[in-house]
Amino acid sequence: MIKLLALLLALAPQILPAPAQMQEKEGSFIVTEKSRGKMEFRLDPKCGLPEEGYTLEVTRTRVKAVASTEAGLFYARQTLAQLEQNGEIPCVKIKDYPRFRWRGFMVDASRHFLSVEKIKQYIDILSRYKINRMHWHLTDDQGWRIEIKKYPRLTEVGARRVEFDGTVTEGYYTQDQIREVVAYAAERHVTVVPEIEMPGHSMATIRAYPELSCEKQPVGNFYTWGSPDIVLCPGSEFTFQFLEDVVAEVSALFPSEFFHIGGDECKKIRWQTCPACQARIKAEGLVADDEFTAEEKLQSYAVNRMEKILQKYGKRLVGWDEILEGGLSPNATVMSWRGEQGGIQAAREGHDVIMTPGSGGLYLNHYQGDPKAEPECYAHHSVLRVPYDYNPVPAELTEEEARHILGVQGNLWSEYIYSDWMRDYLTFPKMFAVAETAWTPLEKKDFTDFCARLDAACARLDAEGVAYHMPLPEQPGGSCSQIAFQDQAVLEFTTSRPMTMVYTLDGSEPSAQSARYEGPITVTESGLLRIASLTSYGKRSLVRDIVLEKMQPIPALHPENPEGISCRSTVGAFRIPYDISQDAVWTPVQIGSLREIPKIYPPDYNMQNPQFFAAEAEGYFKVSSTDTWYFSTLYDELWIDGRLVVDNRAEVKKNYRHDGTLVLEEGIHHFRLVFLSNVTGGWMTARNKGEVLTRKAGSQEWNSLRTL
Ligand code: ACM
Ligand code: ZN
Repeated sequence: MIKLLALLLALAPQILPAPAQMQEKEGSFIVTEKSRGKMEFRLDPKCGLPEEGYTLEVTRTRVKAVASTEAGLFYARQTLAQLEQNGEIPCVKIKDYPRFRWRGFMVDASRHFLSVEKIKQYIDILSRYKINRMHWHLTDDQGWRIEIKKYPRLTEVGARRVEFDGTVTEGYYTQDQIREVVAYAAERHVTVVPEIEMPGHSMATIRAYPELSCEKQPVGNFYTWGSPDIVLCPGSEFTFQFLEDVVAEVSALFPSEFFHIGGDECKKIRWQTCPACQARIKAEGLVADDEFTAEEKLQSYAVNRMEKILQKYGKRLVGWDEILEGGLSPNATVMSWRGEQGGIQAAREGHDVIMTPGSGGLYLNHYQGDPKAEPECYAHHSVLRVPYDYNPVPAELTEEEARHILGVQGNLWSEYIYSDWMRDYLTFPKMFAVAETAWTPLEKKDFTDFCARLDAACARLDAEGVAYHMPLPEQPGGSCSQIAFQDQAVLEFTTSRPMTMVYTLDGSEPSAQSARYEGPITVTESGLLRIASLTSYGKRSLVRDIVLEKMQPIPALHPENPEGISCRSTVGAFRIPYDISQDAVWTPVQIGSLREIPKIYPPDYNMQNPQFFAAEAEGYFKVSSTDTWYFSTLYDELWIDGRLVVDNRAEVKKNYRHDGTLVLEEGIHHFRLVFLSNVTGGWMTARNKGEVLTRKAGSQEWNSLRTL
């Protein structure tokens, strides 16, 4: 009986994205060498189907697909491939077509370069799920990644990045490689859209050609992420000459009608004092008003000029939603990333829009689970369901305005992607949710059903050696991998979507044969809890190892003089606390709060003259009851009563991930912390808030540690 059920399930159509209309029929078509002759794929421009749409009929005796375009037939084949299992195709009648014409995926090749092979693999996989655009983010502060013949330094200098620890990362695509990728994508009905960033996010460009900036001064290594205020100078004619030359070469490589010019997060500080920029503002009559500053209007002027340049090369301008600031160019298309507001405004003004808000789960670099359980990535927390439930057509728009929503796109920003494994882990399965949001009619979407269909898609990734995210066991209130307790601890776990969880307490790797998590686990002894989740087809997630530590409460202290924080610092660039030499010269620093520590020396966000340093601080705090206390911080080390409780050494200190616990007796306790002002994994620790957070076991509310 169970076997029969499994067989039936296996034969139920597992099409992803779900088709617009599908009728399941009795029986199946058996695929043999001979029966392949009974499969017909017919191109009929007059069949009346929407562009990219197709019909597919499978009976016991034949398979027939009809479409008005080659793309439609390609999608019919993708659907058929998903239906076929072990030479058998269930009988169905399908009429299918996309909800949106822009079904996009953005890769960021600048922050961390990815190979041509990897890009092709994404195109291969995603086109199977009817994604039809790859937006290629080719330039940013960290690297210029496309060969431009007229400006060789863009890749000679701009494609080489020296990181804070001295690591050199390099890479760019030759024009031949670009053509190769574009052709590969075209065969799979994917249009590749280039992005050349301007006027902000241009440190790599300026490193290669300093005369493109306002100061025209050479710039040094830019170790970090963020938005430096060294940007292109729109006051200078050379800037536009340069950009036109680049557009000329890039346009010739990409048949796409759209050309992305970036336009996001451009700091306008330098423009305020640049004589050329101010002269341009004056000459063009760019007067500040209630809505926009003169400098915002200068950005709008630059975007307008880019639009005219692009028109010369037969291209349509698309940019991030900041291009609305200062007034939108006449024919610009807007990518709405800072929520939907930019997209709504643009659509109301009659502009085309692509929705890609981070808040809608379209930022693939956001955590797919509890940041405290997941491998380090960018920030935030948006589970698979968020992009799945996202509706790219905001309710505020009229039907007429809504026609301007061309579609939706998932963006894979790569600041925190240190490996292809991580790239895959963040891309999948979220891009499958984006694919269904982009293709399937709203009323046909069903998350539970999607999750059931996901298994087949993920199993296929397994066969291809491509990693993907699986929900991990997470602890309410924030996951923690070290649990101290006095008598017993009760450990509760959940997953971001329904999954089986398995665990061991004997140190062995959890497997399908291990104990199943049925409810909170009570532990009374020290040990190691190893817990993971399992898919229906038996694949195991990453394993979470949780150290269980039975202990007596650490006695309260009775210091004579518990008040004040004692702090000292020493100048230097240190990677880990052990890098500080024994004879380092320390200077006492007067501080009133822990929050002052990361900014003892003012941070240089442009990284042109940064003052790196180490600081140590110690003092006392009080706990209100004898209990297990949790501690969370981004400092390199946090010691409580002489015990290392939080250890972030050599970590990317961006997200609070390594919480620690201790059983503390009610009363006063001692803390000591170490802070290194540096850049680890591209993150500048001087940006951190400098707080230590604490909570009592059982409470989910974190409070700032109040020092005495
Ligand atoms: C962006 O995420 N800065 C477009
Ligand atoms: Zn300027």
